[in-house]
Amino acid sequence: MNDLIRQIYETGVVEDRDGRKYDVFPSSISRADGEAIYRVVRDSGAVRTLETGMAYGLSSLFMLQAVKDNGGTQHVSMDPYQAAWWHNVGLANVERAGFAANHRFFAAPSYNAMPELLKAGERFDAIFIDGNHRFEYSLIDFIFGDQLLNKGGCLILHDPWMPSIRKAISFIVRNRDESYQIVPEYGIGADTRWRASMKFLKALRENPYDLFAARFFARKTLRNYCVFRKIRSISQEDIDRAWDVYCSF
Ligand SMILES: C[S@@+](CC[C@H](N)C(=O)[O-])C[C@H]1O[C@@H](n2cnc3c(N)ncnc32)[C@H](O)[C@@H]1O
Repeated sequence: MNDLIRQIYETGVVEDRDGRKYDVFPSSISRADGEAIYRVVRDSGAVRTLETGMAYGLSSLFMLQAVKDNGGTQHVSMDPYQAAWWHNVGLANVERAGFAANHRFFAAPSYNAMPELLKAGERFDAIFIDGNHRFEYSLIDFIFGDQLLNKGGCLILHDPWMPSIRKAISFIVRNRDESYQIVPEYGIGADTRWRASMKFLKALRENPYDLFAARFFARKTLRNYCVFRKIRSISQEDIDRAWDVYCSF
């Protein structure tokens, strides 16, 4: 593993270009999640990757390392608050780790940057969604991510502990099952019947209308990320033709 990544997790501290220090948590991904994301990208052989939400650049470092180990060329990050909230630490970390030549950054929200990439005809092999965690923004990241992702590629959503992210995952499972399958090897197990019942009741109490999501997630032990594989590309024309398809989620 990259020395800078090791050092950041050992000290729990990151530094900006002027040497000012910041606590890496709670905003950054855990080491375990980062290593899992590294494995997903590495195992899939991805050579071009993208992430929404960079913060202090931990996921960027893991993905850049995997892209490099795959002999790849580029990782794209987008974050409108890299300067204002994160003191450009993410970008400084990418430079310190020696990855700058393989990194492209958009100081813009994903709903602006992703359409630009789409218009330019760019495609990616793995996409990590970790930007604005509200349901509607995660769904927008998925919709654009889907159009940017090559067939066979992986789409990873972070933080399925959040109801908003679970809802976005439910949408994909219910409405895009022809194109996407959850990859169980990366963190999904079956829960005992007793635990599943308790989780189901708890989820329903929190969100009484969320019947599908409550049932779906009650039966599964999820880690803090959910990995989908794109098994089929459906053309935008076919999606537009099936304009009235809808499954509650
Ligand atoms: C949980 S943090 C990301 C953590 C990071 N991936 C890591 O590895 O530590 C969420 C990030 O999303 C960014 N963000 C918020 N709104 C966004 C948007 N519309 N598009 C892209 N990023 C956004 C925030 O500035 C923040 O850096």
